Amino acid sequence: MIKFKNVTKVYEDGTEAIKGINLTIPKGKLVALIGPSGCGKTTTMKMINKLISPSSGTILINGKDTSQTDEVELRRNIGYVIQRIGLLPHMTIEENISLIPRLKGWKKEQYEGRVDELLNLVGLEPKVYRKRYPLELSGGQQQRVGVIRALAAEPPIILMDEPFSALDPISREQLQDELKSIQNTIHKTIVFVTHDIDEALKIADEIAVMRDGEIEQIATPSELLSQPANEFVRAFIGEDRLNARQTQMQVIDMMEDNTNYVHYEESEYTLIPYDATVQEAARVLLETGKPYLMVIKDGKKTGSVTARGILRAVASEGKKEARSV
Ligand SMILES: Nc1ncnc2c1ncn2[C@@H]1O[C@H](COP(=O)(O)OP(=O)(O)OP(=O)(O)O)[C@@H](O)[C@H]1O
Ligand SMILES: [Mg+2]
Repeated sequence: MIKFKNVTKVYEDGTEAIKGINLTIPKGKLVALIGPSGCGKTTTMKMINKLISPSSGTILINGKDTSQTDEVELRRNIGYVIQRIGLLPHMTIEENISLIPRLKGWKKEQYEGRVDELLNLVGLEPKVYRKRYPLELSGGQQQRVGVIRALAAEPPIILMDEPFSALDPISREQLQDELKSIQNTIHKTIVFVTHDIDEALKIADEIAVMRDGEIEQIATPSELLSQPANEFVRAFIGEDRLNARQTQMQVIDMMEDNTNYVHYEESEYTLIPYDATVQEAARVLLETGKPYLMVIKDGKKTGSVTARGILRAVASEGKKEARSV
């Protein structure tokens, strides 16, 4: 877990880049930092691996104050991916990927297999690419190598600063999908900076919206869409996305009771998958006439929704639509 406590950063020329932020990045989650150019995303990220030191406040990693941690050691345990790849041009792909493991003293047998495994993970045939130099790869392929290089030594934390922004839209979508599926298996703590709200909504567990050195809102993608904290966040998300999302709101977003449901009689409810839409949920309630819907996720009961909850969701949808006309 990474924790920012009242962190500020004033650069030497007096620029107040970060004006006192509090932020918790839970272990194993992907948190996106998003906001306009100059709002302080990169500054926030670089304070985690001490490329920049805070002017005041503390940053804790697993409870340990980073100002008390050796920075070389710290950086070896934090993967870092930047926009313009940063592969070393005179090293082969294999050497680039195994750099940190070698610095950490892994043996050849340990990292060789790892290099192949990682190349396969992002669809680059090891036999073809292992011995190539970065310039012998396309931009998208180089960026894939940049991502897996950050994963190579299995750091618990990975920082990614607009890693896909230099890519064409198709490679970008592919890499987003790949990152998502990799994260589903490795569960690293990832801080992901982006300008692109669609990218953030797609890949993040939580999104921190920043503005002018401050955090305006931290929320899950569905909370952000259903309850933007203020006009700035609303505008940042965009009216189109807000409207599009409402019709797709899932039953799990409407769940209102996640304690009492265990006592309900089986005759009182109907099971419904967590990703059913409002409309589907309303239809099931009408058809069955039962008082509750039991929300099922990963094969387990996770909570319930009442007819009232559905009505409320539908009503707030109507209200938002009315406001946007
Ligand atoms: N070394 C520096 N000296 C002085 N000011 C700086 C320095 N680095 C960044 N800044 C300023 O701090 C503010 C935050 O910069 P930062 O790079 O963190 O923004 P960002 O959100 O990453 O922007 P972008 O989306 O353009 O990458 C900006 O006003 C920037 O001009
Ligand atoms: Mg930046």
